[in-house]
Amino acid sequence: MAHNNGLARTPQMGWNNWNSLGCDVSQDLLLDTSKVLLESGLRDVGYNYVVLDDCWQGERGADGYINYNKEKFPKGMKYISDELHDMGFKYGMYSSAGEMTCARFEGSLDHEVKDAESYASWGVDYLKYDNCFHMGRFGTPKITFDRYNAMSQAINATGRSMLYSLCNWGEDYVHTFGMSIANSWRISGDIYDHFNRPDDLCSCTDPRDPHCVAPGTHCSIMNIINKVAPYVDRGSPGGWNDLDMLEVGQGGMTDNEYVAHFSMWAALKSPLLIGADLRELTPRTLTILNNPAVIAVSQDPMGRSVARIRQDFNVKKDRYGQGEIQIWTGPLYPNDQLVVFLNAADEEMTITTDLNEIFVHEGPEGSAPHSKHEWDIYDLWADRMDERQAEKILNGDTQVFQKGWFNSTETSYKDALGRRDERLMGVKVAHVGPAQPELSVIVPRHSVKMFRMQDLSGAGPRYLLSKQEL
Ligand code: GAL
Repeated sequence: MAHNNGLARTPQMGWNNWNSLGCDVSQDLLLDTSKVLLESGLRDVGYNYVVLDDCWQGERGADGYINYNKEKFPKGMKYISDELHDMGFKYGMYSSAGEMTCARFEGSLDHEVKDAESYASWGVDYLKYDNCFHMGRFGTPKITFDRYNAMSQAINATGRSMLYSLCNWGEDYVHTFGMSIANSWRISGDIYDHFNRPDDLCSCTDPRDPHCVAPGTHCSIMNIINKVAPYVDRGSPGGWNDLDMLEVGQGGMTDNEYVAHFSMWAALKSPLLIGADLRELTPRTLTILNNPAVIAVSQDPMGRSVARIRQDFNVKKDRYGQGEIQIWTGPLYPNDQLVVFLNAADEEMTITTDLNEIFVHEGPEGSAPHSKHEWDIYDLWADRMDERQAEKILNGDTQVFQKGWFNSTETSYKDALGRRDERLMGVKVAHVGPAQPELSVIVPRHSVKMFRMQDLSGAGPRYLLSKQEL
């Protein structure tokens, strides 16, 4: 079973070509991108899966086995996986639980066993499994479960360990069964590079309705955040709600919007798959993607998503009629608390909360013991890498890495968090406690403020690690 296959104990991280390059895939693209991931330090902050999306396929042979496109991949898939493994990466591929893939190449429906055998023989470590051309085999959770379970079983039968990532766009209540067969499951139609513009192609008009999950494209950051809100708790070590690949660095959003997008994906424990074309990586994009204090939230060994404690629409609306503010919170390892202030109003906002509200899930009306504790507040973006530093890295100057830049292939996030490694803590900016329980922050338009709270009371952790994380 995928959820206890030992993989994705924290949300998977890596890169996937689809958002920026679509079908324009090749051997060179994968190898060149891996080089950038390696040399920019992104592999070492955690992005270790290189995932090839749709359009790699050739014909299916008379023997029933799938071939790859030999023009795009002249040396073959095993060559690519060997190269990636040598560089310390894992290799991901894509197929669809349908007659064809979404780009109309050969799908795997009813070919699961042979296709899984091919992936295993090519050294594949990860399968993204899509939903196009499913031949009408959807409509109830059971029908969809069976179709996706066929590939789960086929992967298990190969004996090769592969992270299994479902991509059925949230249909048929996948969040109710994804965990039993897969390591992650998409919860929405395809993301697009816009913060909050509603689009009829993303078919849910009210993303807050948990029953309104349907395929589609052009789902904005805010649309997806609002969709996952009612079932954030479905993700846990081994299986995660997948909010879709990152748009950070694609060019359609402001820096603040990308910071908000990245922060929320980390706090909600979505897989973090970079979607930008890394051959054109800019210093500014790098300084979002490589913030170890934010990635530490994503890779927290407790694996608990934030939950929303406030949503307020009584704010300035933009030309799409959109505008709201939200507060999210949740526990962090070892006994910290995360608070995220999300400003999706059409102006800068001062947002205020207090200890009673932050700990409302631990006890109503201020009854939670934690609201009586003393807490130091750390801003997780205050230490964002300077752009000039990032530029130097992209020009091949690796000095920054010699000076103790956080490297998760040497020290795990869990170990570093356990000893409060300061590179993961951000910068101390405030203190709250029973005498001054309020936390009030100015949040720019379309952005977040994200804080780690450290408990000074000496109380032990509220939540324990699961057995496998100990
Ligand atoms: C969509 C999927 C995208 C991408 C695309 C490929 O269904 O959601 O992430 O994989 O197909 O054709």
